[in-house]
Amino acid sequence: MLFRSDPASAPCGSRVLAGGVELLAIPSVFVVILPTADRCAEEQVLAQLPRSERIRIASFERSVDRIRSGVGRLVAAAAVSDLLDVDLSSVAFNVVDRFSKPLCNYPATASIAHSGNVVMAAASRGVVGVDVEQLIGVTLGARRVLSSLELAWMDQKDERDQPQAFLRLWTAKEALLKALGIGLRLDPRLVDLSKGLPGPSEEESNTRWHISVPQWGMQCMSMRLDLDEAAYLVAIATSSENYWNIRQLSLDDFLRRFAWRTGQ
Ligand SMILES: CC(C)(COP(=O)(O)OP(=O)(O)OC[C@H]1O[C@@H](n2cnc3c(N)ncnc32)[C@H](O)[C@@H]1OP(=O)(O)O)[C@@H](O)C(=O)NCCC(=O)NCCS
Repeated sequence: MLFRSDPASAPCGSRVLAGGVELLAIPSVFVVILPTADRCAEEQVLAQLPRSERIRIASFERSVDRIRSGVGRLVAAAAVSDLLDVDLSSVAFNVVDRFSKPLCNYPATASIAHSGNVVMAAASRGVVGVDVEQLIGVTLGARRVLSSLELAWMDQKDERDQPQAFLRLWTAKEALLKALGIGLRLDPRLVDLSKGLPGPSEEESNTRWHISVPQWGMQCMSMRLDLDEAAYLVAIATSSENYWNIRQLSLDDFLRRFAWRTGQ
């Protein structure tokens, strides 16, 4: 799997890699880390959102949900802007399709996910889906969402490795379901990823994984993100590309770099 992880300091406008590879066709992915406790965060985020978005998130009871969802749309807009090289303030997500997938006003697809202190979004000219989940030490719910072959693969792992193995599958699966735009309306057990998983004797990385899903014409990449307060697994599913441009930055850095509205 070809993979590119850009440090946050990489110039956002750089479009060509050494060797002349065009970046325009590569899905743009942003991972933004929220502050653990910051009472100003919601005001900062609200100030950047258009009125329609402020109204949308106002219905969420908890501040943390308003922040996550609001930041998700900002991050998705930044990903579209970066992908297409269009003005950030012109990107809007004012509609969702009948399965609740947010649609943007440009010829690109975008996907959003949030969990704990992590918000991520990706934009692509093709099909794209993302997911992020906090790694907790249990495999609760695995039997409701994994196919029997996936469960067998998870069960042959050491007990202490099973929560991570479960989330590798679950994040990839959810990213795939989001890329397809169906979400959890489809029983996730019917999306079987076991064919693309490594066998017991195959060596694997402990932090980054690739699952090919030929029956759906998709590729999934997931990786582990170790933050101070917790570990997360993030996953990206795309239709054809096997190369991603990922940037990770703090909410402060993100807002500084992508401050484009003043709360109109
Ligand atoms: C999409 C779905 C899988 C998200 O799961 P989740 O773990 O709760 O939340 P995540 O953080 O991973 O993702 C949430 C984001 O997914 C996006 N999303 C929602 N529906 C989507 C869909 N059908 N396809 C792609 N993306 C979708 C949204 O951007 C949402 O964030 P936002 O509302 O703040 O913009 C799930 O909510 C779903 O399937 N929804 C549609 C079906 C439904 O409503 N079922 C009822 C419960 S079974």
